[in-house]
Amino acid sequence: MRRLIDRLEQNHCLEKEEWIALIAEQKDAEYLFERARSVSRRYYGNAVFSRGLIEFTNYCKNNCYYCGIRRENRGVSRYRLSKEEILDCCKKGYALGFRTFVLQGGEDVYYDDERLADLVRSVKAAHPDCAVTLSVGEKSKESYQKLFDAGADRYLLRHETADAIHYGRLHPKDLTLAARMDCLWHLKEIGFQVGCGFMAGSPGQTPECLAEDMLFITKLKPQMAGIGPFIPHHQTPFKDEAAGSVELTLYLIGLLRLLKPNLLLPSTTALGTIDKNGRERGILAGANVVMPNLSPVGVRKKYALYDNKICTGDEAAECCKCLNARMKRIGYEIVAHRGDPAEEPGGNYVQRNVSQSGGIYQ
Ligand code: 5AD
Ligand code: FES
Repeated sequence: MRRLIDRLEQNHCLEKEEWIALIAEQKDAEYLFERARSVSRRYYGNAVFSRGLIEFTNYCKNNCYYCGIRRENRGVSRYRLSKEEILDCCKKGYALGFRTFVLQGGEDVYYDDERLADLVRSVKAAHPDCAVTLSVGEKSKESYQKLFDAGADRYLLRHETADAIHYGRLHPKDLTLAARMDCLWHLKEIGFQVGCGFMAGSPGQTPECLAEDMLFITKLKPQMAGIGPFIPHHQTPFKDEAAGSVELTLYLIGLLRLLKPNLLLPSTTALGTIDKNGRERGILAGANVVMPNLSPVGVRKKYALYDNKICTGDEAAECCKCLNARMKRIGYEIVAHRGDPAEEPGGNYVQRNVSQSGGIYQ
């Protein structure tokens, strides 16, 4: 397996059968993580980027089998933050050092193009030095264009799986892989920095499915890929399914770092939920982003995509302190800037930003 890992590091691509072999066996994990860390260091030094996540609505018109806020879950108490509340989260986040805000929500029809565009314009007007990321699901190309024109910089839309049959196992019929992929290509064409991604260990996932994910990411060339373990939610059709493992999640993070050295790879909350040191382990496997929650504490428990989600009782400031300490302990430093992807090894990050880092956070 070392041979394949070395080849991936050198050539940034593998054949489908090679991906399958690597993923099915998960051998030489420590070696993979070592290589992945060395690539991360070359591109980003010891910098970890932070994105402030604002979960602004848990209304959703979709019914994905894995997701706790699916339409048919009557047990969810639904909420929607107002523009003022969202701006207040950003203001607090700005004071804590955040320079990227991720506005994430279910597919909520109340937040139509006009309201979303207005929201983006308001956040950008209040914080012109910040990047705004949207994560609000599938829309037409025209809608995406309006949001881009309003000033949104980035868009996160996990593809969930690049295998059409597996996609059908995770979603009701009205959602298709083809439509999801069209969205991602449209976002790229418009000029967004794009994030795709998938869950590790979702029901029905095979090494073949994961190989397809790797090939899709090779083709799409997203700026970010969000990988977290699947965790069952007790009020969904997948309540009795097994969770994805930490080991598989870390292995996939390591592979992705070698596949695309400058990729933004979050060490996710889901990873921190299945392992108390999951987020540290993610960074040590090649991840370079953390996304602390800036949502008001009063609504956090209501944005439960899966069971036992961490950080639902903590104020944003506490999470920042906690994460800063966690990163420091493993030799990394959360930096306070937008954290756009590096165009070349080292570049702006290793020489300048890393040495500047920490100011706001200390
Ligand atoms: N476990 C882990 N991740 C989940 N997501 C949704 N439901 C779950 C779950 N039960 C992920 C999906 C979605 C992202 C916002 O959260 O990949 O795209
Ligand atoms: Fe939220 Fe540790 S990051 S409490």
